[in-house]
Amino acid sequence: MEIIQMDQASLSSVRAAAAAILERPSRVHLLVNNAGIMAIPDYRLTPDGHELQLATNHLSHFLFFKLLEPALLKAASPQLPSRVVTLSSSAHNIHEINDADNYNFERTDYNPMIAYAQSKTTNIYMANEIERRYAERNVHATSVHPGIVVQTALAQHMPPDAFKDVDESALYACVKSVEQGAATTVWAAVGDKWKSGGGKYLADCAVAELYVDGEDKFLTAGYAAHAYDVDEAKRLWRDSLRLVGLPEEEE
Ligand SMILES: NC(=O)c1ccc[n+]([C@@H]2O[C@H](COP(=O)([O-])OP(=O)(O)OC[C@H]3O[C@@H](n4cnc5c(N)ncnc54)[C@H](OP(=O)(O)O)[C@@H]3O)[C@@H](O)[C@H]2O)c1
Repeated sequence: MEIIQMDQASLSSVRAAAAAILERPSRVHLLVNNAGIMAIPDYRLTPDGHELQLATNHLSHFLFFKLLEPALLKAASPQLPSRVVTLSSSAHNIHEINDADNYNFERTDYNPMIAYAQSKTTNIYMANEIERRYAERNVHATSVHPGIVVQTALAQHMPPDAFKDVDESALYACVKSVEQGAATTVWAAVGDKWKSGGGKYLADCAVAELYVDGEDKFLTAGYAAHAYDVDEAKRLWRDSLRLVGLPEEEE
Protein backbone atom coordinates (compact mmCIF):
# COMPACT_ATOMS: atom_id res chain seq x y z
CA MET A 1 0.00 0.00 0.00
CA GLU A 2 1.25 3.46 -0.86
CA ILE A 3 0.64 6.37 1.50
CA ILE A 4 0.51 9.90 0.14
CA GLN A 5 0.67 12.52 2.88
CA MET A 6 -0.70 16.02 2.83
CA ASP A 7 -0.88 18.95 5.18
CA GLN A 8 -4.46 20.16 5.23
CA ALA A 9 -3.39 23.55 6.50
CA SER A 10 -1.81 24.23 3.12
CA LEU A 11 -3.69 24.29 -0.17
CA SER A 12 -0.47 23.74 -2.10
CA SER A 13 0.09 20.53 -0.15
CA VAL A 14 -3.46 19.43 -1.02
CA ARG A 15 -2.80 20.18 -4.70
CA ALA A 16 0.44 18.18 -4.59
CA ALA A 17 -1.27 15.17 -2.96
CA ALA A 18 -4.11 15.22 -5.48
CA ALA A 19 -1.64 15.51 -8.35
CA ALA A 20 0.31 12.53 -7.01
CA ILE A 21 -2.89 10.47 -7.02
CA LEU A 22 -4.02 11.64 -10.43
CA GLU A 23 -0.67 10.92 -12.10
CA ARG A 24 -1.28 7.22 -11.39
CA PRO A 25 -3.95 5.40 -13.39
CA SER A 26 -6.53 6.54 -10.87
CA ARG A 27 -10.09 5.64 -10.19
CA VAL A 28 -11.39 6.74 -6.81
CA HIS A 29 -14.44 4.89 -5.55
CA LEU A 30 -14.40 6.28 -2.06
CA LEU A 31 -13.23 9.48 -0.41
CA VAL A 32 -13.50 9.80 3.39
CA ASN A 33 -12.85 13.34 4.58
CA ASN A 34 -11.90 12.57 8.16
CA ALA A 35 -9.03 14.88 9.15
CA GLY A 36 -9.95 17.65 11.50
CA ILE A 37 -8.84 19.87 14.36
CA MET A 38 -10.92 21.36 17.14
CA ALA A 39 -11.07 24.60 19.08
CA ILE A 40 -7.65 26.03 18.30
CA PRO A 41 -7.33 28.51 21.19
CA ASP A 42 -5.66 31.36 19.34
CA TYR A 43 -6.62 32.97 16.06
CA ARG A 44 -4.40 31.52 13.36
CA LEU A 45 -4.33 32.00 9.63
CA THR A 46 -2.85 29.50 7.19
CA PRO A 47 -0.23 30.58 4.62
CA ASP A 48 -3.20 30.89 2.21
CA GLY A 49 -4.79 33.44 4.55
CA HIS A 50 -7.66 31.30 5.88
CA GLU A 51 -8.66 30.72 9.48
CA LEU A 52 -6.99 27.46 10.50
CA GLN A 53 -10.08 25.39 11.34
CA LEU A 54 -11.98 26.51 8.26
CA ALA A 55 -8.94 25.67 6.14
CA THR A 56 -8.13 22.31 7.72
CA ASN A 57 -11.66 21.06 8.30
CA HIS A 58 -13.30 22.34 5.15
CA LEU A 59 -11.37 24.15 2.43
CA SER A 60 -8.77 21.39 2.09
CA HIS A 61 -11.44 18.69 1.91
CA PHE A 62 -13.33 20.78 -0.62
CA LEU A 63 -10.30 21.38 -2.83
CA PHE A 64 -9.21 17.74 -2.56
CA PHE A 65 -12.67 16.59 -3.64
CA LYS A 66 -12.73 19.03 -6.55
CA LEU A 67 -9.29 17.92 -7.73
CA LEU A 68 -10.18 14.24 -7.42
CA GLU A 69 -13.51 14.80 -9.16
CA PRO A 70 -12.34 13.27 -12.49
CA ALA A 71 -11.16 10.12 -10.74
CA LEU A 72 -14.37 9.83 -8.71
CA LEU A 73 -16.48 10.27 -11.84
CA LYS A 74 -14.34 7.82 -13.79
CA ALA A 75 -14.91 5.15 -11.16
CA ALA A 76 -18.64 5.81 -10.86
CA SER A 77 -21.32 3.77 -12.57
CA PRO A 78 -24.99 3.11 -11.82
CA GLN A 79 -23.98 -0.38 -10.67
CA LEU A 80 -21.19 0.93 -8.43
CA PRO A 81 -21.46 4.64 -7.64
CA SER A 82 -18.59 6.50 -5.96
CA ARG A 83 -19.00 7.80 -2.41
CA VAL A 84 -17.78 10.79 -0.45
CA VAL A 85 -18.12 10.65 3.33
CA THR A 86 -17.32 13.77 5.35
CA LEU A 87 -16.87 13.85 9.11
CA SER A 88 -18.98 16.55 10.69
CA SER A 89 -19.92 16.77 14.37
CA SER A 90 -22.74 17.46 16.78
CA ALA A 91 -20.88 20.75 17.29
CA HIS A 92 -22.47 21.99 14.06
CA ASN A 93 -25.52 22.66 16.26
CA ILE A 94 -23.64 25.50 17.92
CA HIS A 95 -23.22 27.73 14.90
CA GLU A 96 -24.13 28.25 11.26
CA ILE A 97 -21.61 29.45 8.68
CA ASN A 98 -20.45 33.04 8.99
CA ASP A 99 -21.35 35.76 6.51
CA ALA A 100 -19.40 35.65 3.27
CA ASP A 101 -17.14 38.50 4.34
CA ASN A 102 -16.48 36.94 7.74
CA TYR A 103 -15.58 33.27 7.14
CA ASN A 104 -12.14 34.02 8.58
CA PHE A 105 -13.48 36.15 11.45
CA GLU A 106 -12.55 39.36 9.66
CA ARG A 107 -15.44 41.25 11.29
CA THR A 108 -16.19 39.44 14.54
CA ASP A 109 -13.99 38.29 17.41
CA TYR A 110 -12.45 34.87 16.95
CA ASN A 111 -14.03 32.21 19.14
CA PRO A 112 -12.41 28.73 19.08
CA MET A 113 -15.69 26.81 19.41
CA ILE A 114 -17.60 28.95 16.94
CA ALA A 115 -14.81 28.45 14.42
CA TYR A 116 -15.02 24.68 14.97
CA ALA A 117 -18.83 24.73 14.78
CA GLN A 118 -18.74 26.77 11.57
CA SER A 119 -16.34 24.24 10.02
CA LYS A 120 -18.56 21.33 11.07
CA THR A 121 -21.60 22.98 9.46
CA THR A 122 -19.55 23.36 6.28
CA ASN A 123 -18.97 19.58 6.32
CA ILE A 124 -22.73 18.97 6.18
CA TYR A 125 -23.26 21.57 3.46
CA MET A 126 -20.47 20.15 1.33
CA ALA A 127 -21.96 16.65 1.53
CA ASN A 128 -25.47 17.88 0.75
CA GLU A 129 -24.24 19.97 -2.15
CA ILE A 130 -22.16 17.12 -3.62
CA GLU A 131 -25.28 14.96 -3.50
CA ARG A 132 -27.33 17.66 -5.24
CA ARG A 133 -24.73 18.31 -7.92
CA TYR A 134 -23.29 14.84 -8.60
CA ALA A 135 -25.96 12.24 -7.75
CA GLU A 136 -27.10 12.09 -11.36
CA ARG A 137 -23.50 11.25 -12.28
CA ASN A 138 -23.41 8.44 -9.70
CA VAL A 139 -21.40 10.17 -7.01
CA HIS A 140 -23.10 10.22 -3.60
CA ALA A 141 -22.20 12.01 -0.39
CA THR A 142 -23.11 11.86 3.29
CA SER A 143 -21.93 13.62 6.43
CA VAL A 144 -21.32 11.86 9.71
CA HIS A 145 -21.32 12.63 13.42
CA PRO A 146 -19.18 9.81 14.84
CA GLY A 147 -20.34 10.35 18.44
CA ILE A 148 -18.25 11.53 21.36
CA VAL A 149 -14.95 9.65 21.35
CA VAL A 150 -12.69 10.90 24.12
CA GLN A 151 -9.79 8.55 23.34
CA THR A 152 -8.74 10.45 20.22
CA ALA A 153 -6.46 13.47 20.08
CA LEU A 154 -9.19 15.86 18.93
CA ALA A 155 -9.61 17.74 22.22
CA GLN A 156 -5.86 18.30 22.67
CA HIS A 157 -6.15 22.06 22.18
CA MET A 158 -8.99 22.51 24.65
CA PRO A 159 -8.49 23.65 28.26
CA PRO A 160 -8.76 20.86 30.88
CA ASP A 161 -12.00 22.33 32.27
CA ALA A 162 -13.65 22.68 28.85
CA PHE A 163 -16.39 20.19 29.66
CA LYS A 164 -16.99 21.31 33.26
CA ASP A 165 -20.54 22.45 32.50
CA VAL A 166 -21.51 19.25 30.72
CA ASP A 167 -23.65 16.83 32.71
CA GLU A 168 -21.14 14.06 33.52
CA SER A 169 -23.61 11.21 33.64
CA ALA A 170 -25.10 12.29 30.29
CA LEU A 171 -21.57 12.55 28.86
CA TYR A 172 -20.49 9.09 29.99
CA ALA A 173 -23.76 7.57 28.86
CA CYS A 174 -22.99 8.54 25.28
CA VAL A 175 -19.18 8.27 25.06
CA LYS A 176 -18.07 5.77 22.42
CA SER A 177 -15.03 3.60 21.94
CA VAL A 178 -12.88 4.28 18.90
CA GLU A 179 -14.45 1.31 17.13
CA GLN A 180 -17.98 2.49 17.93
CA GLY A 181 -17.00 5.98 16.79
CA ALA A 182 -15.84 4.61 13.44
CA ALA A 183 -19.02 2.61 12.88
CA THR A 184 -21.20 5.30 11.28
CA THR A 185 -18.38 6.34 8.93
CA VAL A 186 -17.88 2.71 7.87
CA TRP A 187 -21.63 2.29 7.38
CA ALA A 188 -21.70 5.40 5.16
CA ALA A 189 -18.60 4.29 3.27
CA VAL A 190 -19.51 0.69 2.47
CA GLY A 191 -23.03 0.03 3.73
CA ASP A 192 -25.57 -1.04 1.11
CA LYS A 193 -27.97 1.64 2.30
CA TRP A 194 -25.70 4.41 0.94
CA LYS A 195 -24.76 2.77 -2.33
CA SER A 196 -27.11 4.89 -4.41
CA GLY A 197 -28.13 7.75 -2.17
CA GLY A 198 -26.89 10.47 0.11
CA GLY A 199 -27.44 14.07 1.15
CA LYS A 200 -28.05 13.03 4.74
CA TYR A 201 -26.40 13.71 8.11
CA LEU A 202 -25.83 10.41 9.87
CA ALA A 203 -25.29 9.53 13.52
CA ASP A 204 -25.47 6.26 15.48
CA CYS A 205 -25.63 4.31 12.19
CA ALA A 206 -28.91 5.98 11.31
CA VAL A 207 -30.20 9.08 9.56
CA ALA A 208 -30.14 11.72 12.29
CA GLU A 209 -33.33 13.28 13.61
CA LEU A 210 -33.90 17.00 14.15
CA TYR A 211 -32.29 18.38 17.33
CA VAL A 212 -34.82 18.68 20.15
CA ASP A 213 -34.84 21.95 22.11
CA GLY A 214 -33.13 21.59 25.47
CA GLU A 215 -30.75 18.80 24.42
CA ASP A 216 -27.04 19.42 25.00
CA LYS A 217 -25.70 20.63 21.65
CA PHE A 218 -22.55 18.51 22.00
CA LEU A 219 -24.16 15.34 23.20
CA THR A 220 -27.10 15.32 20.82
CA ALA A 221 -27.20 13.01 17.83
CA GLY A 222 -29.66 15.43 16.24
CA TYR A 223 -29.14 17.89 13.43
CA ALA A 224 -29.64 21.65 13.59
CA ALA A 225 -32.43 23.40 11.71
CA HIS A 226 -29.79 25.05 9.51
CA ALA A 227 -28.23 21.73 8.43
CA TYR A 228 -30.39 21.28 5.34
CA ASP A 229 -30.49 24.92 4.24
CA VAL A 230 -30.00 24.55 0.48
CA ASP A 231 -29.34 28.25 -0.16
CA GLU A 232 -26.62 28.36 2.49
CA ALA A 233 -25.04 25.21 1.09
CA LYS A 234 -25.04 26.80 -2.37
CA ARG A 235 -23.47 29.96 -0.96
CA LEU A 236 -20.74 27.96 0.73
CA TRP A 237 -20.00 26.05 -2.49
CA ARG A 238 -19.77 29.28 -4.47
CA ASP A 239 -17.53 30.92 -1.88
CA SER A 240 -15.38 27.82 -1.38
CA LEU A 241 -14.59 27.77 -5.10
CA ARG A 242 -13.44 31.36 -4.81
CA LEU A 243 -11.46 30.79 -1.61
CA VAL A 244 -9.49 27.87 -3.07
CA GLY A 245 -8.97 29.64 -6.40
CA LEU A 246 -11.23 27.55 -8.64
CA PRO A 247 -13.52 28.98 -11.34
CA GLU A 248 -17.21 29.70 -10.76
CA GLU A 249 -19.68 26.92 -11.53
CA GLU A 250 -23.31 26.85 -12.54
CA GLU A 251 -25.73 26.36 -9.69
N1 LIG B 1 -13.60 12.49 18.67
C1 LIG B 1 -14.82 12.99 18.70
O1 LIG B 1 -15.49 12.95 19.75
C2 LIG B 1 -15.45 13.59 17.49
C3 LIG B 1 -16.77 14.06 17.58
C4 LIG B 1 -17.36 14.63 16.46
C5 LIG B 1 -16.66 14.72 15.28
N2 LIG B 1 -15.37 14.28 15.20
C6 LIG B 1 -14.67 14.43 13.93
O2 LIG B 1 -14.03 13.24 13.59
C7 LIG B 1 -12.87 13.52 12.79
C8 LIG B 1 -11.70 12.74 13.33
O3 LIG B 1 -11.40 13.21 14.63
P1 LIG B 1 -10.71 12.33 15.77
O4 LIG B 1 -11.57 12.37 16.96
O5 LIG B 1 -10.29 11.01 15.22
O6 LIG B 1 -9.45 13.26 16.11
P2 LIG B 1 -7.88 13.01 15.98
O7 LIG B 1 -7.49 11.77 16.71
O8 LIG B 1 -7.24 14.29 16.44
O9 LIG B 1 -7.68 12.79 14.43
C9 LIG B 1 -7.66 13.86 13.55
C10 LIG B 1 -6.95 13.47 12.30
O10 LIG B 1 -6.83 14.64 11.48
C11 LIG B 1 -5.51 14.73 11.04
N3 LIG B 1 -5.10 16.11 10.82
C12 LIG B 1 -5.21 17.16 11.65
N4 LIG B 1 -4.66 18.26 11.10
C13 LIG B 1 -4.16 17.89 9.89
C14 LIG B 1 -3.47 18.56 8.86
N5 LIG B 1 -3.13 19.87 8.94
N6 LIG B 1 -3.12 17.86 7.75
C15 LIG B 1 -3.43 16.54 7.65
N7 LIG B 1 -4.08 15.84 8.59
C16 LIG B 1 -4.44 16.52 9.71
C17 LIG B 1 -4.66 14.12 12.15
O11 LIG B 1 -3.43 13.74 11.63
P3 LIG B 1 -2.16 13.56 12.62
O12 LIG B 1 -2.49 12.42 13.49
O13 LIG B 1 -1.03 13.33 11.68
O14 LIG B 1 -2.06 14.85 13.38
C18 LIG B 1 -5.53 12.94 12.55
O15 LIG B 1 -5.29 11.84 11.70
C19 LIG B 1 -12.69 15.04 12.82
O16 LIG B 1 -13.15 15.59 11.60
C20 LIG B 1 -13.58 15.49 13.97
O17 LIG B 1 -14.07 16.80 13.79
C21 LIG B 1 -14.76 13.70 16.28
